[in-house]
Amino acid sequence: MKTFNINNIIRPNIKVMKAYSSARDEFQEITNDFVFLDANENPYETGLNRYPDPFQRNVKNELSTIKNYPANQILLGNGSDEVLDLIFRAFCEPNQDNVIAISPSYGMYSVLANLNAIEYRKSLLNENDFQPNIEDIFSKVDEYTKMIFLCSPNNPTGEIIKREYILEIVKRFNGLVIIDEAYIDFSTEPSWIEEIKNYPNIIVIQTLSKAFGLAGIRLGILYASLDIIAVLNKIKPPYNINQLTQQKALEILKDYDKIKLTTQTIIKQKQLLETALKEIIFIEKIYPSDANFILIKVDDATKRYNELIEKGIVIRNRTNDDLCKNCLRITVGTEEENEKILENLKSL
Ligand SMILES: Cc1ncc(COP(=O)(O)O)c(C=O)c1O
Repeated sequence: MKTFNINNIIRPNIKVMKAYSSARDEFQEITNDFVFLDANENPYETGLNRYPDPFQRNVKNELSTIKNYPANQILLGNGSDEVLDLIFRAFCEPNQDNVIAISPSYGMYSVLANLNAIEYRKSLLNENDFQPNIEDIFSKVDEYTKMIFLCSPNNPTGEIIKREYILEIVKRFNGLVIIDEAYIDFSTEPSWIEEIKNYPNIIVIQTLSKAFGLAGIRLGILYASLDIIAVLNKIKPPYNINQLTQQKALEILKDYDKIKLTTQTIIKQKQLLETALKEIIFIEKIYPSDANFILIKVDDATKRYNELIEKGIVIRNRTNDDLCKNCLRITVGTEEENEKILENLKSL
């Protein structure tokens, strides 16, 4: 096993830069006893006239309780996309470094690599079970490989990546292993956040956009070692999570029991949908899913996609993704929505 040292992977300019010090960094406690004339805010009350907490302490404390994970090892971003962008900027030197990602997978990794001038190396999943090909991944690693992206449960395939494969990658790789768990709340498998204390090269990314039903507020979550969190806090925009997002996140997180109930409903609906899809004659394969969507292979994906659009139903055509020829991805909806898509599929 190689040893991971964060100092070997931070970009030199980030290592030496000094973070912006905001007024709310220097003085955090908002109480009625103080007169705040430090941040050029407007003194007249609108409910939002003060800058928000730059470190979102209340939200992190609530997440910490729910996830049983230390609050000071959490970083929040304006959606997962912001935290993903931050890790590229912290650890990958433009026009020099590269990253490796499984394929097919979530499209933003390659967009962000391109944006940051980082070479993106794809490693195809095994076609039969959509699990990673470990030897192929390591054949693509060189001294400039800073990160390996895994997504589990994976989008668009829906499958969890087996523990033994992730563990082997984490143990063998000298750089960071990014595990995107956007859909983990729909899975019966445990999260990798509990392994961060054993393997400091793991970064786990989650989001409030899926099981928590808050895609509209844009809140992405990154879990990592204290050292990694310190680097990312240094470079993040000072007030990256606005006050309204923090308030709404807190409100919803405090009612976690309700979230668990809706998650269970979605899982149940997925099982019903999976069973019913088996009766549609032009569906050739239904892939197992640990997420809130189902990938299916059909006779002609583009034709079926267009037919559904005509009936006012929008799904995702994944036929151009690696290994996904003639595949469609269906998000699990409400009972009524699922009945509607089934009825329409049957009528085609
Ligand atoms: C694997 C994966 N990661 C991240 C995201 C985006 O999450 P967010 O809404 O937090 O940016 C998605 C959205 O579809 C996703 O599928």
